[in-house]
Amino acid sequence: MGLLDGKVVVVTGAGGGIGRAEAKLLASEGAKVVVNDVGGARDGVGADDAAANAVVAEICAAGGEAVANFDSVATAEGAHRIVLAAVTAFGRLDVLVNNAGIVRDKSLMKMTEEMWDSVIAVHLKGTFLCTQAAAKQLMAQGEGGRIVNTTSVSGLLGNFGQANYAAAKAGIYGLTRTAAIELQKHRITVNAIAPIAKTRMTDDLPMFQGIDTLTPEHIAPAVLFLASPLCADRTGHVLAVSGSRMYAYKVVEAKGKFKDGNEVWTANEIAENWDAITKV
Ligand code: NAI
Repeated sequence: MGLLDGKVVVVTGAGGGIGRAEAKLLASEGAKVVVNDVGGARDGVGADDAAANAVVAEICAAGGEAVANFDSVATAEGAHRIVLAAVTAFGRLDVLVNNAGIVRDKSLMKMTEEMWDSVIAVHLKGTFLCTQAAAKQLMAQGEGGRIVNTTSVSGLLGNFGQANYAAAKAGIYGLTRTAAIELQKHRITVNAIAPIAKTRMTDDLPMFQGIDTLTPEHIAPAVLFLASPLCADRTGHVLAVSGSRMYAYKVVEAKGKFKDGNEVWTANEIAENWDAITKV
């Protein structure tokens, strides 16, 4: 018995890195998987069917079921065709994992409009378009479903040189929270992971040099949990994984301070009361 027996799953950007590990684990738990990937470079340039095809071959060799799809998540037509691939091959959809991503890092003052647009298009617009296409299918089936998005510590806390990526990933956080609220009545849970793993996206960062304990395989079980019946009543959460550390991100609202008599605050009073206003 697998946790996803009989379920149909789409994993976007599953031709390598974290998505590949997720697709393989979900398939090993009984899911029929659409392995989506355009197969471009890490900055999104180019396309190659080989990446998605190789992961499908790995899943099938291990006794699982999978088909490849090479559409981009960044267009409405692509998102529609990714969901259609699941319905055509396996007759339905149960789980969407929004994982596809690219990076074009540059400090804020050197970032071009093209760098901004391309990263926002794949991460934020792609997550929106695939979520909408998948939710349409899940609502038509009427049996609920699971959507798992991929945010990042970069978006939740900020990171030097990643204004485009951080804005996209923070946007995915807001999208996750809103989709969780709106789709709850259809029994569709929407959660996100915030992974840290050594992949082609990160392997040149100083923190990953000489480190082999932060693997994509450490990340995949968090997605399996969020995609499974174990997570039926949890929605709108951000589950973070870094090697063997499993934790969570939460936005915290400080209790704040009221002025007597419903009076308007002055800027000087805000300065004087900063600690009391911001204390959590
Ligand atoms: P990766 O570069 O190995 O994987 C990303 C995959 O997405 C690639 O196979 C790529 O071809 C595919 N892709 C890119 N544009 C696409 C498009 N338009 N349509 C379909 N597929 C597309 O990188 P990694 O690290 O596996 O990243 C996976 C996700 O995890 C990304 O969303 C990334 O932002 C996120 N993430 C990764 C972290 C890490 O430490 N590796 C940290 C935080 C978030």
